[in-house]
Amino acid sequence: MTGPRLILGIETSCDETAAAVVERGRHVLSNVVAAQHDLHAEYRGVVPEIASRAHAERILPVVRAALDAANVSLGDINAVAVGNRPGLIGSLLVGVAAAKALAYTLGVPVIGVDHVHAHLIAGLIGPPGAVPAPCAFPALGLVVSGGHTSLYRCESILNATRIGATIDDAVGEAYDKVAAILALPFPGGPSLDKLARTGVALGEQRGGFPLARIAPGSLDFSFSGLKTAAIYAYRGVPETQRTREKKLARGDAPGPTMPAADVAATFQLAAVASVMLKLQRALEQHPDCRTVLVGGGVSANSLLRERLLVLAADQRLDVRLPRMEYCVDNAAMIAALAHDLLESRDGAGDDLTMTAIPTTAF
Ligand code: KG4
Ligand code: ZN
Repeated sequence: MTGPRLILGIETSCDETAAAVVERGRHVLSNVVAAQHDLHAEYRGVVPEIASRAHAERILPVVRAALDAANVSLGDINAVAVGNRPGLIGSLLVGVAAAKALAYTLGVPVIGVDHVHAHLIAGLIGPPGAVPAPCAFPALGLVVSGGHTSLYRCESILNATRIGATIDDAVGEAYDKVAAILALPFPGGPSLDKLARTGVALGEQRGGFPLARIAPGSLDFSFSGLKTAAIYAYRGVPETQRTREKKLARGDAPGPTMPAADVAATFQLAAVASVMLKLQRALEQHPDCRTVLVGGGVSANSLLRERLLVLAADQRLDVRLPRMEYCVDNAAMIAALAHDLLESRDGAGDDLTMTAIPTTAF
């Protein structure tokens, strides 16, 4: 079995318009990402209608740029892949419509790919011009993004079972909310990561923020309590009118709050420790997994990357961290996963009823 040689990948699930040309599933010829951060910054979050309009304007120029950068023409493309789930419905529809139209016109297969699943393959994509060594399976998968925080047991890259997930906020979402409260530049995750490097991080035992353990043996995550702890540490615990009046009457000074850099450092320490805690548990429960595939925007986090590299060295694990350009949303990962999917289906793509789906079962 061999998959198609050249795949054009398209990704528009949230606020990045992206296209990539990937050869034989792992060799990236081009990877173009047009981020929309400037359009959403004033709202401190992605506005769906603005995102889908920007995708509609940018999709064809971005596809053109990806073909040019790869030095190929449309006629060279053997299949078109698109992230068709999960995501913002209006945003997904732009990518899906473009992918179907291109594939139909070119007479090549089109395939819809799960975006969260594609994050798992990002650590297996090499730098331009190089293909990394294949990894051993079974493996554990860890996706840490703005929308998802999940653990998987993977018998292969295509056969993955979810073994843990967040029961409330995704870790990236908690980063973005805390960053907004600290009035950091949008997007919040990278800004908070940067500020955290300058602050004093308090551990859980020294007045730091609590880690959600949920239940003994649980591989699920929770970040909403951590987010609230960080917000209260910065702004003070909200008081009832009665308490405030009593304090005023007693002449109490307002309680001290934590400086922003220390909130950022303490939050980052706890967020990364929470992720590492559940990953360690998963490794104990699945001792036959000696490979860890990591993906999603938060895999760009400096402290998480440090901790994962230490874990790899201490436990002699093969930890596949994506290159920075494949951590956040991109179309190279979409084309890479599509290659393996098409290979497993003897090249058969989806029919033209394939559509955008806002949720994921992955
Ligand atoms: O994978 P991604 O691009 O989109 C989703 O599928 O959600 O992830 C975006 C998330 C955002 O929440 C962003 O703040 C976070 O990844 N992020 C980071 C860092 N870089 C991106 N979070 C923490 N530290 C970073 N360095
Ligand atoms: Zn993503």
